[in-house]
Amino acid sequence: MKKTARSHINIALIKYWGKKDKTLNLPLTSSVSLTLDQFYTTTTVEYKKGLTEDHLYIDGRFITGDELKRVSNFMDEIRKRYNIPYYALIDSYNYVPKKAGIASSSSAFSALALAATEAFGVHLSQKELSSLARLGSGSASRSIISGFAIWHEGDSHESSYAESFYDYNDVAVIIAFVDKNEKKVGSRDAMNILTDFPELKNEWITLTNDHLERIKLGFINQDFNIIGTTLESHAIKMHELIEKTGITYLTDKSREIIQYTHALREKGYPVYVSMDAGPNVKIFTKKSSIKDVLPLYQKITEVVVCNKGKGAYLI
Ligand code: DP6
Repeated sequence: MKKTARSHINIALIKYWGKKDKTLNLPLTSSVSLTLDQFYTTTTVEYKKGLTEDHLYIDGRFITGDELKRVSNFMDEIRKRYNIPYYALIDSYNYVPKKAGIASSSSAFSALALAATEAFGVHLSQKELSSLARLGSGSASRSIISGFAIWHEGDSHESSYAESFYDYNDVAVIIAFVDKNEKKVGSRDAMNILTDFPELKNEWITLTNDHLERIKLGFINQDFNIIGTTLESHAIKMHELIEKTGITYLTDKSREIIQYTHALREKGYPVYVSMDAGPNVKIFTKKSSIKDVLPLYQKITEVVVCNKGKGAYLI
């Protein structure tokens, strides 16, 4: 009744921002991501007969309060769906640079979904596991999958899941650190504010669906310029949208890195930015260009290079 799973974070090229169903955690749109090889969560779940509630440790710290509640609610969902009569001891470690500000619920809930089912001998298909991880955190549905993934928005628990997307081999991501502190407003709270702005929400759905079609063409034609320009305009549009709802994640330093990337692109380097609910900038580039591009970013900030990573697995 004990299993350990590992899962890596993913970075969205086409973002998930906003929900159409909070209970099932169904997104407003489909999204596309790349699972990375660098940052991951390792989680052990052990069901124990004597326990009267879940006991959660994160990075060796005993967790109570809201963080425990979110995990326990997810565990309740798993217990209900698979008739598991026990509470669990959950021991989770995040392998990210300390306080990197990129710790993500994507790797956490993906690893937990896999460990919590397997620990009770429940073997799910990749699709079922992805839907399950989604209930913990939307982006976790994509961390189940290796490399590029598409999370189909769906309209029910079963139809909202991630699977492999088209591939592009010559890719790498440089994470440029801007601020290592924890973000002020979490993505969950920030994206839920969108429900107060119905017009912005509808514009965002239309725009995201257009970007999704465009990026698909980029993959089908194996055209890195189309993939890059699309993911970059998408991320910039998402931040414009977030700012219209009263939240700002990007700092002057983030904007400086974005400008720097544009200048490098004018000189012919294949570099394109993406940012999530925080100030750090992720630069999509070609793996074959890393040797030329990396020193240019190392000059201006602290960086980590990531390649394609594996989906969730048992260890
Ligand atoms: C900006 O997956 O953290 O990273 O489903 O409420 O847990 P919840 O949200 P979460 O949101 C991720 C938002 C994002 C974009 C993305 O990863 O697609």
